Amino acid sequence: MIRMALTKGRIEEKALEMLSACGYDVSELEPDRRGRKLFFRVGNADIEIVLAKAADVITYVSHGVCDAGIVGKDTIMESDGRFHELLDLNFGRCRFALAGPAGKYDEFRRGYGHKIIASKYPRVTKNYFDSLGSDVEIVKIEGSVELAPLLGLSDAIVDIVETGSTLKANGLEVWEDVARISARLIANVASVKLKKAEIDPLAAALETRIED
Ligand code: PRP
Repeated sequence: MIRMALTKGRIEEKALEMLSACGYDVSELEPDRRGRKLFFRVGNADIEIVLAKAADVITYVSHGVCDAGIVGKDTIMESDGRFHELLDLNFGRCRFALAGPAGKYDEFRRGYGHKIIASKYPRVTKNYFDSLGSDVEIVKIEGSVELAPLLGLSDAIVDIVETGSTLKANGLEVWEDVARISARLIANVASVKLKKAEIDPLAAALETRIED
């Protein structure tokens, strides 16, 4: 038996579609059958599925209470958990970008002054600016990070961009691409060895259903 943690919401929907296309019976998770349950059995395989918030998927897999998980690269990049990333499932695609007020990029890059960057992802932001050798101040924001430059709290933001419409609606634009994001299959370090017989077929099945 393996237990897999699935990120609730957008990722869950597409992941269940993929699992179903692989032949796994995930009918217990159908909206009209699931109720408030968080624990489910795959009907025709020794797999148990739990639904969790993205950051918790990583916590459960790192601690080994779940053997595998499906979670976004955004959450993986922000985490410091220990696990293996087995597959890029190539759905839920978007990107991390550095963005700021439209037309102000040159000013931002030229300026030697102290720069403040707002983000829901301080670790991703720090790693990015460290990689550029730039020292910036990072302010952690919990909600709509686009507000920070509009309010004058920050010079720029690092955030998830999918269509770009949120940025545009707020007079902001992408300045630099930071990283590509998509859903990933992850696994606990010990489970990869101890439950190889269960995890390998799951990964192999999912791999055949990855779309371009
Ligand atoms: C993300 C991100 C942006 C928005 C970008 O938020 O923080 O606000 O999506 O998408 P767009 O480029 O298509 O406009 P999300 O909707 O995930 O909600 P959140 O604020 O709860 O993270």
